[in-house]
Amino acid sequence: MTNDTNPFYDAVAQHYTLFFRDWETQMEREGLGLRSIFRNQGITRVLDASCGSGVQSIPLAKLGFNVTAADPSEGMLIRAREIAADQGVQGKIAFIQSDFLNLLSNVQAPFDAVITKGSALPHLLLDQEIETALRIFNQLLRVGGLLVIGMRDFADMIEDRPRFIPGLIHELDNGHEFVTFDIWEWEDGPPITATQNLYIVQGDGSQYETVKRSVVYRPLSTDEVKVVLLESGFDIISDQPDRSERVIVARKQEASKTYRFPFKR
Ligand SMILES: C[S@@+](CC[C@H](N)C(=O)[O-])C[C@H]1O[C@@H](n2cnc3c(N)ncnc32)[C@H](O)[C@@H]1O
Repeated sequence: MTNDTNPFYDAVAQHYTLFFRDWETQMEREGLGLRSIFRNQGITRVLDASCGSGVQSIPLAKLGFNVTAADPSEGMLIRAREIAADQGVQGKIAFIQSDFLNLLSNVQAPFDAVITKGSALPHLLLDQEIETALRIFNQLLRVGGLLVIGMRDFADMIEDRPRFIPGLIHELDNGHEFVTFDIWEWEDGPPITATQNLYIVQGDGSQYETVKRSVVYRPLSTDEVKVVLLESGFDIISDQPDRSERVIVARKQEASKTYRFPFKR
């Protein structure tokens, strides 16, 4: 892997629920959204390949799915286990420390569905890594199984290359304010990369402390991902926004149907 995101996610894991306007509402939405995608598809066994602090895995377990939750960040896995315990589903999720590219040796296939939401796929920087990850997801699925990819569509950002993106303000129980915003840096590459510099500002109204944490993305468009999906043994079922991001749903084809594009991307 060319992009080690663990220092960033380990550092922000304890704050991660504050990166959502309302964590409980977000968990509920994610669970219901995935349940509607999975409806009537014969799905019981689900791999969350980038579980983070469990915003998809935990509600899926509460809804009765059999969930394996993988993530490379130890900090995020610790947070996910804590939240799963609070929500009474700690025994119902198998947590595994793994990045996408090592999943084949870390989890037991086949799965009925693989999900990776929250813009984890664009943390892979190289074409080769993205292609390999999608082929691994394909190998982990049964024929007819679903892959759900949730990501920011960087097509919307790549032309304007915004530098400043406001985040959220929370009032903490101790009376402190917790404020976030991003400053992005764009590099032409190759590959083109976008660095998110996340500023976390905390204080009591008169004195504040600021921490800056940085993580790198490959600013992929969902159209680029769909081309690679077709080359990796998937049919595209849908590509729609939910409240947070674009969501591509793809189905594993039978082996003989895999498309090969005669051009190089
Ligand atoms: C923004 S979080 C998303 C977590 C959660 N799915 C959500 O929607 O909030 C991105 C996650 O991707 C994980 N990640 C980063 N690189 C990865 C890789 N190469 N393979 C698997 N997961 C990765 C990070 O550790 C992090 O937990």
